[in-house]
Amino acid sequence: MLYIGHIPILLLLPLSAWAAPMCSLRPPPSSAAAASASTPTSNPTGGVSNNNGSGPTFNRTDDFVATTWYAGWHAQYFPPEKLSWEKYTSATYAFATTTEDPGAVGNLDAENDALLRRFVSLAHQNNVKALLTIGGWTGSAFFSLNVGSDANRTTFVQTMVKLVNEYQLDGLDFDWEYPGKAGDDCNIISPNDSANFLTFLQQLRKTPELANRTISAATSVLPFAGPDGNPMSDVSEFAAVLDHVAIMNYDVWGSWSKTVGPNAPLNDSCDPNGQGSAVSAVKAWTDAGFPANQLVLGVAAYGHSFQVDSSAALGASSVKAADGTLTLQANPSFAATQPKGDSWDAFSPAGVSSCGKPTPAGFSGVFNFWGLTEGGFLDVAGNPAAGMGYRFDECSQTPYVYNPSTQVMVSFDNAQSFAAKGQFINEAGLLGFAMWEAAGDSNDILLDAISGAMGIEQSRS
Ligand SMILES: *[C@@H]1O[C@H](CO)[C@@H](O)[C@H](O)[C@H]1NC(C)=O
Ligand SMILES: *[C@@H]1O[C@H](CO)[C@@H](O)[C@H](O)[C@H]1NC(C)=O
Ligand SMILES: *[C@@H]1O[C@H](CO)[C@@H](O)[C@H](O)[C@H]1NC(C)=O
Ligand SMILES: *[C@@H]1O[C@H](CO)[C@@H](O)[C@H](O)[C@H]1NC(C)=O
Ligand SMILES: *[C@@H]1O[C@H](CO)[C@@H](O)[C@H](O)[C@H]1NC(C)=O
Ligand SMILES: *[C@@H]1O[C@H](CO)[C@@H](O)[C@H](O)[C@H]1NC(C)=O
Repeated sequence: MLYIGHIPILLLLPLSAWAAPMCSLRPPPSSAAAASASTPTSNPTGGVSNNNGSGPTFNRTDDFVATTWYAGWHAQYFPPEKLSWEKYTSATYAFATTTEDPGAVGNLDAENDALLRRFVSLAHQNNVKALLTIGGWTGSAFFSLNVGSDANRTTFVQTMVKLVNEYQLDGLDFDWEYPGKAGDDCNIISPNDSANFLTFLQQLRKTPELANRTISAATSVLPFAGPDGNPMSDVSEFAAVLDHVAIMNYDVWGSWSKTVGPNAPLNDSCDPNGQGSAVSAVKAWTDAGFPANQLVLGVAAYGHSFQVDSSAALGASSVKAADGTLTLQANPSFAATQPKGDSWDAFSPAGVSSCGKPTPAGFSGVFNFWGLTEGGFLDVAGNPAAGMGYRFDECSQTPYVYNPSTQVMVSFDNAQSFAAKGQFINEAGLLGFAMWEAAGDSNDILLDAISGAMGIEQSRS
């Protein structure tokens, strides 16, 4: 017998959940699947419509989502064999990029081709869905053209179907950053992007190959932009064709911000400097007609670093907590110098981008969660190391750590903040979580914290 908490699973799940073919995990008690057990609008495969009839028009295949993106370019350090496959319902390979030609995607060179096949095969051995994501920050340049006309959409749909067939994919994820809104400098943008994207997704869903596969999108904290560049007030038509959107609630603060702030805030309604959070993103998407049970919360297994003077970081009187850590000031200002992140953060020399624009030299400053242990900020259990500064910000529900000798502060996520996000996912009735990136975690500290808080249980049978 399997249990969620202390309740036998049979009492909680609709029978359809037993028929879900690709699941080695059992959903949390408050998931869409569990809710649908008592909801007359549930369809045979566990999909749920919201009250006014929006929601999926197809058969959803996911009762809940515990997913991660796998960054192919980190395979030398983190081969796909290292993924904790048994803890995910799906995993998404990043990235295939857009190209000028809707008949082709980029980045699937011989190395990525072989790696993607290995990734899919491992996923299937583990009863996990394998998806491919198209786009990314620098890979979104040509989405606008690819979906820009009837002819291009038809070709682009055929390209997607070929990818699904060629790699035996269980679905596709569209990481367009962003339709109708500025992203990377090289992106082509049109006021018609979101409308064209929707038409493309509708066409894609109609193909028999994609009818029963996952189609998802990775999105900003705000709903897709309309012709005026502002968030659309009604995105319910997207919910009719997408299984879910994963809200990328990270990079909310970073070196581009005025002060140090949370990378991935859970809440900002209590923060005078609030500029986006899981709470406000879920509100924005549901206010625009996107059902909560089709929202997946994007969570970050990394943090951003800032160079912060010790007087700004620690204040006049630095207080030592019982564990020997120094208490930190909230939202200190930081110096222009971007510190180096963890050992994967390579210095980029000044250069030119793919569309010929100058790019500055420097580090990204990103610390993966494991990198904070590597760098001496945290101990192996993920707790602040002795002598470091530490603050858990109650509003954003995220931690900060500070090394007084190097004067580097990092805003990041730990087990406590991932558990808070897992609880929020259940309370808000979201579909699940998506972690960027699989390789960022350290001994599954983060993954176990969010899954545990959601009440997800593993079944290895
Ligand atoms: C959804 O599932 C039902 C029952 O299995 C099936 O009859 C129907 O054709 C499916 N719809 C689509 C769009 O695949
Ligand atoms: C369609 O794709 C072609 C490239 O094959 C591109 O040149 C053209 O601008 C696209 N059309 C639209 C309307 O985006
Ligand atoms: C947007 O779509 C409308 C209607 O299809 C069309 O008339 C207009 O030219 C398009 N605008 C751009 C910039 O493509
Ligand atoms: C999708 O799956 C349902 C249920 O298994 C099946 O009835 C339907 O024919 C499938 N649709 C397509 C287009 O394969
Ligand atoms: C977010 O903050 C507001 C204002 O303090 C509070 O009412 C709300 O409960 C918080 N939500 C969560 C999920 O923490
Ligand atoms: C119903 O759908 C509209 C968009 O068509 C949306 O604006 C509204 O919030 C939805 N209402 C509910 C109760 O979901």
